[in-house]
Amino acid sequence: MNRVIPSRRAFWVLTALFILVCVTGAAWANRFLRQPALTPAIRGEAVARKLGCFACHGAEGQGGIADPGARGGKVPGWGGPTVSSYAKNEQEIREWILDGAPRRLKEAGAAHPPFIPMPAYRGRLDDRELSDLVAYFTAVSGGFGDVPEAAYEGRAIAARLGCFGCHGPSGAGGGPNPGSFKGHIPAWDGEEFLELVRDDAELREWILDGHAKRLWDNPAARHFLEGQVVQMPAYRPHLKEDEVGKLVAYIRWLRKK
Ligand code: HEC
Ligand code: HEC
Repeated sequence: MNRVIPSRRAFWVLTALFILVCVTGAAWANRFLRQPALTPAIRGEAVARKLGCFACHGAEGQGGIADPGARGGKVPGWGGPTVSSYAKNEQEIREWILDGAPRRLKEAGAAHPPFIPMPAYRGRLDDRELSDLVAYFTAVSGGFGDVPEAAYEGRAIAARLGCFGCHGPSGAGGGPNPGSFKGHIPAWDGEEFLELVRDDAELREWILDGHAKRLWDNPAARHFLEGQVVQMPAYRPHLKEDEVGKLVAYIRWLRKK
């Protein structure tokens, strides 16, 4: 009988091949699983950077450069109390971006052309870029329309405590965070939130203790929690019970939207 006996060499070649497949598979899975979950607002920030918006409206749209011809002496930022007089609704935000001003103001007839004009971007961006940009603008301006009272107060507490510095405007997604699992500080309204926060009890743990106990007790998750450069602070000493409730109300409301 003629039996094929694999040579020693073939055995080692196959073993090496097997190891190679495992290593590249693991590297690929690692890369895929750790892709940051991009929310529309995070994508919108990248669109704004690409289109040069921050040159005039300031870093992250938070405050504009000097404009000697403007009423306030500055190009308006996207946040702050005056923003609602510029854009009354989502349609007007789109008109600012596409046409350089909303129809309402054009028809009212501006007294004089601004010294630094707002460019008309029509033809320079596609529909998805436009809606991502509107999502980012809305997060910076906080102009969400009707907000229930507890959520409204929760937003003010989050602003006062600096949550948005890390989690991005309105909590819509933060910047890079070396050593963290996804590589950036998570959004409150993204998909990733569901992996990090199972229910309101865990949401409170994050805010009060700086982590959820379930993840802290898991060695793999703890490796990332402890290894990331920017750490979630434990706010227990600085929050009253009703304030925690309002923060939870705001985050829950933001997610429902
Ligand atoms: C060359 C400078 C410049 C650039 C670049 C620019 N803007 Fe403006 N923008 C202005 C000025 C000036 C105004 C105020 C115009 C006025 O008062 O008539 C304005 C007003 C606005 C407004 C309404 C007022 C406010 O701040 O809420 C929005 C919204 C806006 N810009 C969005 C954008 C977006 C989005 C981009 C990038 C896609 C952008 N702008 C790029 C100069 C600029
Ligand atoms: C110094 C930066 C920083 C500040 C300020 C901060 N956080 Fe965090 N937060 C983080 C980091 C980092 C994580 C952990 C992310 C991870 O492990 O992937 C986190 C996680 C969270 C989570 C878990 C789920 C998620 O998707 O974000 C919640 C909820 C949260 N923070 C709420 C808050 C609230 C509310 C405040 C303000 C009272 C706040 N954070 C202030 C950095 C910060």
